[in-house]
Amino acid sequence: MERIDIQTDVNKFDGLKNQTEFIDFFRNKNMMDTKKYLIETWGCQMNEHDSENLSGMFDLMGFIKTDDREQADVIVFNTCAVREKAEMKVFGNLGHLKNLKQRRTDLKIILTGCMPEEEAIVDKIKKKYGFLNLVIGTHSYHKFPKLLKESYTQEATTFDVDNKEDIVVENLPANRDYDVKAFVNIMHGCNNFCTYCIVPHTRGRERSRLPEDIINEIENLVEKGVKEVTLLGQNVNSYGKTEAFGIDFSDLLEMVNAIEGLKRIRFMTSHPKDMSFKLIDAINNLDKVCEFLHLPVQAGSNDLLKRMNRGYTVEDYLEKIKYAKEKIKDIAISTDIIIGFPGETEEDVDHLIELFETVKFDNAFTFIYSKRKGTPAYEYKDHIDKKIKSNRFNRLLEASNRIAYENSKKYMNESVEVLVEGPSKNDKNILTGKTRHFKTINFEGDEELIGELVKVKVTDYNSFSLSGTFEELI
Ligand code: 5AD
Ligand code: SF4
Repeated sequence: MERIDIQTDVNKFDGLKNQTEFIDFFRNKNMMDTKKYLIETWGCQMNEHDSENLSGMFDLMGFIKTDDREQADVIVFNTCAVREKAEMKVFGNLGHLKNLKQRRTDLKIILTGCMPEEEAIVDKIKKKYGFLNLVIGTHSYHKFPKLLKESYTQEATTFDVDNKEDIVVENLPANRDYDVKAFVNIMHGCNNFCTYCIVPHTRGRERSRLPEDIINEIENLVEKGVKEVTLLGQNVNSYGKTEAFGIDFSDLLEMVNAIEGLKRIRFMTSHPKDMSFKLIDAINNLDKVCEFLHLPVQAGSNDLLKRMNRGYTVEDYLEKIKYAKEKIKDIAISTDIIIGFPGETEEDVDHLIELFETVKFDNAFTFIYSKRKGTPAYEYKDHIDKKIKSNRFNRLLEASNRIAYENSKKYMNESVEVLVEGPSKNDKNILTGKTRHFKTINFEGDEELIGELVKVKVTDYNSFSLSGTFEELI
């Protein structure tokens, strides 16, 4: 595995080693005052963070951000491959861009994220979407400025989708979406090969960033005013295992917890197979780590878990949840579920709902199984009818919402700690933020509170959010 630090290995960063070269290039193109970029992001927090990096590189090249497709000189689609529906949406949107491009031939269109890492997608693009300028995989972002420049000098689509490259890139510029909270990747890729999942095929093998690089990044963020970090990885519980750092994820949390000025730590995603009791102890002992655990169970019966290649049983899962609930007062737990996996029966759904009643999840992200070519489950024989999948989905949703609602009730009249993120989307006079338990909460307050930790008294609730009144600054 190769580590590239673009600040010290400038020659390997085929991009911004000579910023003026790029600015001159685009100035000569006579677009210095007008060149605007738009990034549309689908999918998970990893993609959100990658878009922040792309945005940081655009800024360095002298581009200006816009939200309007009509105004943009460069449009980037940062895509997700986890479910087919999202891919269809991307292709639908590309159809719209094709019309735009017919009117504005100088428009550059870039496709990136997980979709270009699938061979079948690359074939489809070659056949039907020749108007794209650049198709770039997630392993090639350090070459982005160079590739963008190239796209101005050549007609044909440029492809850079070699997902075999086993690298960790440090110090890419980032234009962060929030001032108070930030995502920090601690590792890339996944080694688990759950039978339904395309991610190990698109994001490559598991590789962890060095602890000192992670700590440096967070210290810099805190200096800029960040109060909360979310440590990201497909399976944070196996942090450092491949590299044998001698430091596991709990140790890393302890190091991050010691960073002065940082107020809150979150992390995702945990894999039940690798989640240790030591980690639960760490959540309990480390004051900045929020009392919130996202622990995807995916299914409620052992047969399905086995066919998904998840590596744990329902009993193993419940044992860890029991320990977490005993250790950590008021811990909030969320999960991911796949409904309609090949071979699933009505009894499997009954067992899943029983699991919900036992664990009392605060939130559940439920996905209808989507067939992904190249994964083992694609070849399974007993796929479930669409209508049945949808009925089961609705059954689970009813139970999940009801249980989440019961959970929200316990915050009523409580005084909760909130990190204020900004004005609410629907009403500019209302502020919005998150509690330590990852509940959204809305309340009336002065905009000077944005970015602060405050106490709010809960006065109302629904399944997924709370409302309240401001009490005091913390
Ligand atoms: N179909 C439906 N949901 C999927 N997920 C992953 N692959 C698929 C698929 N093929 C879900 C899992 C995972 C979440 C990020 O996406 O629940 O935890
Ligand atoms: Fe996909 Fe499983 Fe890896 Fe999660 S742990 S990214 S579901 S293969």
